[in-house]
Amino acid sequence: MKGLAQQLSRRLEGEGFQVTTISMGDLKPNQLKKIEKLLLLVSTHGEGDPPDAAISFYEFLHSKRAPKLESLEFSVLALGDTSYEFFCQTGKDFDKRLEELGGKRIVDRADCDVDFDETATEWTNQVLAALNVGHAVASGIPVQANMSQVTGSQADRSSSTYSRTNPFMAEILENLNLNGRGSERETRHIEISLEGSDLQYQPGDCLAIYPENHPQLVQDILDAMGWSGDEQVTVNKNGEQKQVRDALLSHYELTVLTKPLLTQAAALTGHAQLQELVQAGHEAELRSYLNGRDLLDLIHDFSLKGHTAQELTSILRKIPPRQYSISSSPAAYPEEVHITVRTVNYESYGRERYGVCSTQLAKRAEVGDHLPVYIQQNDQFRLPDNPDTPIIMIGPGTGVAPFRAFLGEREETGQPAKHGSSMGTSISRPISSIK
Ligand SMILES: Cc1cc2nc3c(=O)[nH]c(=O)nc-3n(C[C@H](O)[C@H](O)[C@H](O)COP(=O)(O)OP(=O)(O)OC[C@H]3O[C@@H](n4cnc5c(N)ncnc54)[C@H](O)[C@@H]3O)c2cc1C
Ligand SMILES: Cc1cc2nc3c(=O)[nH]c(=O)nc-3n(C[C@H](O)[C@H](O)[C@H](O)COP(=O)(O)O)c2cc1C
Repeated sequence: MKGLAQQLSRRLEGEGFQVTTISMGDLKPNQLKKIEKLLLLVSTHGEGDPPDAAISFYEFLHSKRAPKLESLEFSVLALGDTSYEFFCQTGKDFDKRLEELGGKRIVDRADCDVDFDETATEWTNQVLAALNVGHAVASGIPVQANMSQVTGSQADRSSSTYSRTNPFMAEILENLNLNGRGSERETRHIEISLEGSDLQYQPGDCLAIYPENHPQLVQDILDAMGWSGDEQVTVNKNGEQKQVRDALLSHYELTVLTKPLLTQAAALTGHAQLQELVQAGHEAELRSYLNGRDLLDLIHDFSLKGHTAQELTSILRKIPPRQYSISSSPAAYPEEVHITVRTVNYESYGRERYGVCSTQLAKRAEVGDHLPVYIQQNDQFRLPDNPDTPIIMIGPGTGVAPFRAFLGEREETGQPAKHGSSMGTSISRPISSIK
């Protein structure tokens, strides 16, 4: 989101617009009426809820105190994930409410799935075209507009060239199981080197990892489709080619089914039952089908065999990165990042299922291997500036991870806190005791 907002600002400034980029969390209600043009970028969290930074602005805008906005021109870029029931709900809510308050759309809202770059670029191009056309018609000269762009986050502090679209190949330095022998659970403590990346983080941030699918699932899909794995497929609009085995391993999502995927599979196969499932009025059956099934189930259930590797991969979405709360303090471990990962596995429809990233980290990632990573900033989740401020940390299970980073930071910067009592997970003596 932050990267998108910054890119958009740069493009608008390059076109001669005057741009103010502001987090919704910092936007004062009385500023709203002064904004002429508003580009609102927002994701959806929870079950169709606004992200933390947007909550107060969302509530204000939906309250009776919200002003009339008849002179406002706006457009919304909504970020979300089609695997959620309430896809891009917050963006949809803002879009609807701004219209109700009298605002006029610059261009229609765009709803982005997890792989948002293409949709976001298209929306940006449309916004720029509409604004430039608007100016030409209104005044005949390229003018500056008072543009406010409301985003969910602050300016980026890292100077690194590595990012979500250009991840750093980071070396694994340590990979330990924290659970005792015989435990049903597996939780890994993983240390990763950021040396040479210039990537910086603060306690509260996450490490995002692009995972690889389980090789056995890939083989099972190849077998089910009757492919050797060597078939070439084009994986993006730039014409990049890969062997289908590699594309299934690292490029495409295989373990989550979404409505857009089923809709495209229905069109591809012409399967009557699948076509019925994606029609309006069948939402409950659709949700029930999507839950706990993966691409291999879809292939078996609706006989996708017979379609080419290109046909099938063209309807898959890109595998999204997984986020892990960083459990180290950068003050204590410069150029390193530690994470605490619980291995996900469960049985569904008679087959053992493996969480993609957590299983890769637990079962296949070895010391010396490299992982594509980037830092996901989380400005809403920080230690208080004043070290005397009392803190209550609630972190069940691997939820303890960021608190290890908080405690490590306090220890390293010589700001020990007074201890209260702790319950359950021992957060006053965190995982650092394993070292
Ligand atoms: C901000 C943030 C911070 C996070 N921090 C941490 C952290 O510090 N440590 C950590 O371990 N994780 C953390 N996570 C979760 C992590 O990102 C991954 O979601 C988790 O590791 C699972 O990913 P995976 O690829 O292994 O599993 P996936 O392949 O993504 O599978 C997980 C999915 O499997 C499905 N599933 C799971 N169990 C069942 C079941 N019994 N029946 C049916 N379906 C099921 C669910 O749909 C679930 O979403 C964090 C997530 C976020 C958003
Ligand atoms: C806990 C959680 C809940 C989410 N809930 C939804 C949801 O209800 N609807 C949706 O479309 N996307 C949902 N998403 C997906 C996010 O909107 C999507 O990943 C987005 O790109 C996040 O952008 P951000 O990290 O900048 O907030 C959720 C993500 C998380 C981590």
